[in-house]
Amino acid sequence: MPGFGLGVYKVDEGDTVIRAVRTAIEVGYRSIDTASFYNNERGVGQGVRESGIPREEIFITSKVWNDEQGYESTLRAFEQSIEKLGLDYLDLYLVHWPVSGKYIETYLALEKLYKEGRVRAIGVSNFHVHHLESLLKDCSVKPVINQVEYHPHLTQKELKNYCERENIQLESWSPLKRGKLLTEPTLIEVGQKYGKSPAQVILRWNIQHNVITIPKSTSAERIKENATIFDFVLSDEDMKKIDGLNINDRSGSNPDDF
Ligand SMILES: NC(=O)c1ccc[n+]([C@@H]2O[C@H](COP(=O)([O-])OP(=O)(O)OC[C@H]3O[C@@H](n4cnc5c(N)ncnc54)[C@H](OP(=O)(O)O)[C@@H]3O)[C@@H](O)[C@H]2O)c1
Repeated sequence: MPGFGLGVYKVDEGDTVIRAVRTAIEVGYRSIDTASFYNNERGVGQGVRESGIPREEIFITSKVWNDEQGYESTLRAFEQSIEKLGLDYLDLYLVHWPVSGKYIETYLALEKLYKEGRVRAIGVSNFHVHHLESLLKDCSVKPVINQVEYHPHLTQKELKNYCERENIQLESWSPLKRGKLLTEPTLIEVGQKYGKSPAQVILRWNIQHNVITIPKSTSAERIKENATIFDFVLSDEDMKKIDGLNINDRSGSNPDDF
């Protein structure tokens, strides 16, 4: 899986998402993160096809939404997603949130899809350590990914250490805290040293922490900007400075309350 990709939450279905996906692929993105909940899977598939890059070179993630959870309903949701995307397999399929009383059977449906070769990898999203612990007791295919809110204001140290020990790759959603981190003085100051924007500093910090990152943008300029992070390296001192910004603050819901 590429360590960097495009997120498309809140990107309108139709021309907007088609254009964003096509632009991203043109400038080198090879991973797109969507979900049935985003209601733009058709456009994502269309954008991938219009890019002219062979499907097998693009990594496509989708997710089963909360009201689709349960064993049989997840299998049905998967068929709908794949039909909308116009694909015959997914690279990664995730349980979007750990819906209480449902997420284990939902994950067992993902295992079936994996064993049948319909998805190339399976994982979870928004799982705390206790959700992962209970899942690992019941599953036969370990989740490869846990996609969670992760940015300099929410570094989730305990969860990150647990995932590293269990060999579950952490992936960051809302890496830019939906834009709220871009005026943070420390990030501006660090960026000035390297000639980079606060967004580029955060995304580079993700990569150097071995966390997969999927910033969302619909602007061609910012899609390019966000990908221009492989030509500099943050010093250990600057990495620590950014780590020090953590205030355990979420822009989205806490999985225990959602
Ligand atoms: N699993 C989950 O539960 C979950 C939850 C939330 C998100 N996600 C995934 O994670 C992806 C990213 O998270 P997100 O979309 O919530 O937020 P984000 O990527 O942290 O921030 C996106 C916001 O920042 C702006 N932006 C992007 N690049 C910028 C730049 N270089 N300079 C200034 N502003 C910039 C975007 O506006 P413009 O579009 O105008 O550039 C948009 O308003 C989502 O799209 C989705 O795929 C998953």
